[in-house]
Amino acid sequence: MPANDDQFSSRAEYFEALEDIPVNPSQEPTLGDLIHRRFNRRELLKAAVGVVAVGTLTRLSMGGEAEAKSASDKPSAAASDFAFDEIAHGVDQTHHVAPGYSADILIRWGDRVLGGAPPFDPMAQSSAAQLGQFGYNNDFIGFVPLPFGSDNGDHGLLCVNHEYSDEEVMFPGHGRHDRAFSKLTPELVDIEMACHGGSVIEVKKEGGKWRVVEDSRYARRINALDTAMRLGGPAAGHARLQTSEDPSGTKVIGTINNCAGGITPWGTYLMAEENFHYYFMGSLEGNPEKANYQRYGVPGNRYAWARYHKRFDLDAEPNAGNRYGWVVEVDPLDPNAMPVKRTALGRFKHEGAESIVNKDGRLVVYSGDDQRFEFLYKFVTDGRVDMSNRAANRDLLDAGTLYVARFDADGTLSWLPLVQGQGALTADKGFHSQADVVIEARRAATLLGATPMDRPEDVEPNPVTGKVYVMLTNNSKRKPEAVDAANPRAGNIWGHVLELTPEDGDHAATTARWDILVKAGNPADPAAAAMWNPATSGDGWFACPDNCAVDPQGRLWVTTDQGSKWKKASGTADGVWALDTQGAARGTGRMFFRVPVGAEMCGPCFTPDGKTLFVAVQHPATDGTKHFPGFERSSTFEDPATRWPDFKDGMPPRPSVVAITKDDGGVIGS
Ligand code: FEO
Ligand code: CA
Ligand code: CA
Ligand code: CA
Repeated sequence: MPANDDQFSSRAEYFEALEDIPVNPSQEPTLGDLIHRRFNRRELLKAAVGVVAVGTLTRLSMGGEAEAKSASDKPSAAASDFAFDEIAHGVDQTHHVAPGYSADILIRWGDRVLGGAPPFDPMAQSSAAQLGQFGYNNDFIGFVPLPFGSDNGDHGLLCVNHEYSDEEVMFPGHGRHDRAFSKLTPELVDIEMACHGGSVIEVKKEGGKWRVVEDSRYARRINALDTAMRLGGPAAGHARLQTSEDPSGTKVIGTINNCAGGITPWGTYLMAEENFHYYFMGSLEGNPEKANYQRYGVPGNRYAWARYHKRFDLDAEPNAGNRYGWVVEVDPLDPNAMPVKRTALGRFKHEGAESIVNKDGRLVVYSGDDQRFEFLYKFVTDGRVDMSNRAANRDLLDAGTLYVARFDADGTLSWLPLVQGQGALTADKGFHSQADVVIEARRAATLLGATPMDRPEDVEPNPVTGKVYVMLTNNSKRKPEAVDAANPRAGNIWGHVLELTPEDGDHAATTARWDILVKAGNPADPAAAAMWNPATSGDGWFACPDNCAVDPQGRLWVTTDQGSKWKKASGTADGVWALDTQGAARGTGRMFFRVPVGAEMCGPCFTPDGKTLFVAVQHPATDGTKHFPGFERSSTFEDPATRWPDFKDGMPPRPSVVAITKDDGGVIGS
């Protein structure tokens, strides 16, 4: 954020501004990077395809208004794996879905999750109420069919992350933040902590419509205020994780900034801790973790929590910053099971944790580290998944090998093992045990020569084709001299999508092939140097891919988060796009759903029958409302850019999960 700006309009904008401070020191072009530039013949051929697209497009909607499309704009129905009429780019106060579909609100911030929780009253919020109510800023959505082991598409558990809080539109009279957090009373802090984390809700489809099952025995709120967790894996109990509150280094209260995640084959829910650094305060002087913390931006000083909870105060607890930044495993089928932070998967700003059972039976978990110039990782378990005995998988994620990706210009991806004692990861470099490696995964990855990426967000294996899709959301700070084959654009405000092809379909292999599926941005804007299939219409292209989902047919769906830069990046609000990956239509986008102004699109999740797509509308009315024609200011509780989804006087905007179904009951996108 600008040094002279002592106020910020929304938490999300603040977060985005902070992304302008890269902490990875290794951004210089290496010899390998210089060689990468020779790769460009293949890129140029593809760019030529992108240029063809320009000629087929009519006027594009950069102003954000929906425009009528001619038939020639539409992707070729014969070639595409998708069949629906797309919606138009645009921005307004509500959501939109393709014709022939319904998009119904399933659950909103403040709705009751636990029996006994009071109804939502925005004028009388309390931490006690919030602990039983649906949290804020829903992000990841996972679906676990009921009964467990079935592929039921009508009944299951939804596991939903609550990433962070937006106080200016949550709390009456709060207005914009100031850096001193002068309006954040201890009770407001506790509400914030209670609205973080996750929710487990039981959901049922009856008569074609979804509802939340009241008083379900599975209902659960995981939160940052009082949910006890255990640490597992190589860093558990290590001295660098010990605090005065937890001398054992094995117990922790709460989880924070839970962005995307995953559902394991044995039906557990993985919550990724992403921007954990924001929650800490304190000085690094004299702290032996100073260099480690600086690499992660700890302390971020973006919440007042440390004032009242010393587990976020580095002056009181010097090791506190090592106890977050992990992947948390929760068993949604057992509300009494203690969540476990699985340290073997490394400590970084985990966007998500999507997994696939490898052909040898081991589980492979993919995870991006969402910051400019950070890396792509995967974790391969030592043991094999046992689908006949759920309990046998209980601690599978505690032992295995963490790898980081190096992308070479010849299309080879090398997975470099982060193993203590191997390569540069030795005691003289400060890696005395595997605990040191996972705690400082970023530094270890840099030493191995991993490729700094354009903000890796969701990474999704496709179980139908065996390929893997990597969302790289953007990187405005990449300089022309630092481009490489896998991150080919300087000043990349639009992002791109990579496709990985593991060797012989082996996700545990140490090499794979990689390719660029699309370079996002406007194909009609030469400055964007975007790359799309020419069949992509003026509404079919997007910017800033963030989350994604593979449906049961193996088709890819992408959701976007342009943040406050939406006007510059695309001119449309965020949404869901179908993206063809094979055949003549490969690289064709098509717009399916759009969020209300100021929101981002998270959590795409299909039921096993492909007939429902759940999506999470996060932070409506916050990001970039200054660019919303007719509003042009920052939102507050009293004066939001939209009151989606209730549109009632006095009711603030509410992040919500939306259930999308086809009106004829068919498969989404068919
Ligand atoms: Fe929480 Fe990287 O988005
Ligand atoms: Ca995200
Ligand atoms: Ca996903
Ligand atoms: Ca995001």
